[in-house]
Amino acid sequence: MCGIIGIVGNQAVTDRLIEGLKRLEYRGYDSAGIAIMENAVSGSVLSRRRAEGKIHNLVERVAKEPVDGNLGIAHTRWATHGIANENNAHPHFAGRVGLVHNGIIENFTQLRDGLKKVRKFQTQTDTEVVAHLIDEAMKNGASAQEAFAKTIGQLTGAFALGVVIEGEDQQLFAARRGSPLAIGLGDGENYIGSDAIALASLSQKIIYLEEGDWAVLTTDSVKIFDADNAPVERPITMVSGSLAAAEKGNYKHYMLKEIYEQPETVGRTLTHYIDAFNHRVKTPEELELETLDFKNLERVTLIACGTAAYAAYVAKYWFEQLADLPTDVDIASEFRYRRPALSQNSMAIAVSQSGETADTLAALRYCQKKGLKTAALVNQMTSTMARESDYAMPINAGPEIGVASTKAFTSQLTALLSLAISSGVQRGHIDKKRETELTDALTQIPRLITETLALEPEIETLAHDLSKTENAFYMGRGVHFPLALEGALKLKEISYIHAEGYAAGELKHGPIALIEEGTPVVVIAPYDELFEKTVSNMQEVATRGAKITLITDEKGAAHTAGMAHATLVCPETQSESAPIVYAIPIQLLAYHAAVHLGTDVDQPRNLAKSVTVE
Ligand code: F6R
Repeated sequence: MCGIIGIVGNQAVTDRLIEGLKRLEYRGYDSAGIAIMENAVSGSVLSRRRAEGKIHNLVERVAKEPVDGNLGIAHTRWATHGIANENNAHPHFAGRVGLVHNGIIENFTQLRDGLKKVRKFQTQTDTEVVAHLIDEAMKNGASAQEAFAKTIGQLTGAFALGVVIEGEDQQLFAARRGSPLAIGLGDGENYIGSDAIALASLSQKIIYLEEGDWAVLTTDSVKIFDADNAPVERPITMVSGSLAAAEKGNYKHYMLKEIYEQPETVGRTLTHYIDAFNHRVKTPEELELETLDFKNLERVTLIACGTAAYAAYVAKYWFEQLADLPTDVDIASEFRYRRPALSQNSMAIAVSQSGETADTLAALRYCQKKGLKTAALVNQMTSTMARESDYAMPINAGPEIGVASTKAFTSQLTALLSLAISSGVQRGHIDKKRETELTDALTQIPRLITETLALEPEIETLAHDLSKTENAFYMGRGVHFPLALEGALKLKEISYIHAEGYAAGELKHGPIALIEEGTPVVVIAPYDELFEKTVSNMQEVATRGAKITLITDEKGAAHTAGMAHATLVCPETQSESAPIVYAIPIQLLAYHAAVHLGTDVDQPRNLAKSVTVE
């Protein structure tokens, strides 16, 4: 989604703004721009440079037409209203005002109609009207601050804004409603950014604006006001140095780096939820979730989007099998509009890497309104979901920069399995012996992931083959059914090969009609209690010409010798924790298919990392 960065500084800002934009690239975008307050002889002048496509296009533009000054805003745009071209790129200008925006102004048509007689609009965006409103208010006598406050009061929808105004050379205005925005505190300078990653090279002292807050920044002050325009203080958070370390290192892509980080990131998740020394899950008290009570809960509702939703689908099997706890999984964008029947004695858990996904956040708020207890399982503990829910639970995967989620997925699974075990223990469904067995199996996962990563050369060869196809299928049973969905999603989002995931038993109810000679089918089947059934389904498609890649373990390979075109042999894994290990080959398969096809792996077309619009 769109990214914002702004600096009110004591030295030149252009290079630093562009550096900040590069840190925001991971969010996904299709144009970029900067606006700088240049100190011309006759007074300050606002100048902008914008370019369609990648940031290097903007860098080239700035090299040809240099611009610099001590105050500026910059933006990466992910198009919603109006196509992705230079004209629609931010910053938008109106009179003295330069503005960047993330989110959607829902009432922009009405506002625009109201101004049509006095204003000429240059773009197709929902954003431009906001710049006009501020400028018009100033023309009608309001000060810059009054005009800004008045304008945001007129807007409906979700937005984060950064604004600079000609004649106000020392002021940077910011507002946050629905879309995240952070303030960074510097030495004789202050900053705004969509997240702490954007600000990593500038500041580690971060203030997260709260819902409805707006702010006026100068070089030596930050004044924050709440939605009622009353001055407020917000806490300063020291962000860890690891954010600054969100670099690619020696890896070709962030995605590959993040795939390889998984032994460590899953280990970090485990350290949070498991007491490995005593072979048990941590108690709610130890997790600082004192009142979290699974024992008396009637139902859990897991809400998420995309990959996070697939992690939630896997968790449904775990909560039901390990804790006898009825569990629903809902795609967040469907949840709140279908008016779900919610039982009061249930808890909603939002699963989200970013903690900012607009649909998941809206669903979480819906549950809160209906009186449910809410929890957020997030990677960003400073995110809106973490702050607004009753229980904030981290996955501790560290910054995930590749748009396609990998390490956040395995950490989500790890945390959800730990929570399912914990609820099983609390509900008396798991005895001490079983708890020991399950937690011991969990502690093996980082090692098993390392062993599975060693399959990369084999997977790379298979991926070359896969990259030649136009359609692929993934299938699995039980906890490996959602993993099949995730495998297909990974492949399509980064390689653009059409792929579908199915419950293995479901193909013969329709999709098998698509199988013909050579159709690739990836079968996820460790040697567990469902193995024989999955193999029968595998044979049904193999008989019809499917080219099978079987992902299994040694026992599975021994039982299927000669049946598959290729067999990837993962280490033997205890059945509950298997999906965390089996996620690795499906990630590597998609990664290498995409690399072979030469796509933009870390920023696939049309996709955004943090989807802050509905
Ligand atoms: C796919 C992917 C997306 C996200 C989804 C939810 O690889 O990353 O499907 O999982 O947009 O995002 P979060 O987890 O931030 O709520």
